[in-house]
Amino acid sequence: MALQWTESLATGVADIDNQHKELFKRINSLFDACQQGKGKSEVMNVLKFLEDYIETHFSAEENLQKGHSYPDYPAHKAMHEQFKKEFYEFKRSLEQKGATLSTVITTNRLLSSWWTEHIGKVDKALGAFLKGKM
Ligand SMILES: [Fe+2]
Repeated sequence: MALQWTESLATGVADIDNQHKELFKRINSLFDACQQGKGKSEVMNVLKFLEDYIETHFSAEENLQKGHSYPDYPAHKAMHEQFKKEFYEFKRSLEQKGATLSTVITTNRLLSSWWTEHIGKVDKALGAFLKGKM
């Protein structure tokens, strides 16, 4: 179930690609903590480690978009906001219930599917726009 970064996910913007790779590492750490049945406090630590990085990464992408007057910035930002909303709901349920089967399934959908899809479509479109501007 581990997320793997491949060239097909490259946006062509080195900073963004490096951040995506780091993000995948942190998501995989969370998968591992959940699957190995680590205690709640350890799972929450790993989740916090991921959360900090998500915030940093979204801000970096959004600043790039604003800095280059990216026309799809409002839609792209809205997707980040929607993700954050779901992520914080997921965090609450993890806090309450710990790493149950259902949280593991949500982790997979929310973290693997969302990121792969978002990077593959939305971030790549951003990369194509930024190419030549940077
Ligand atoms: Fe994005």
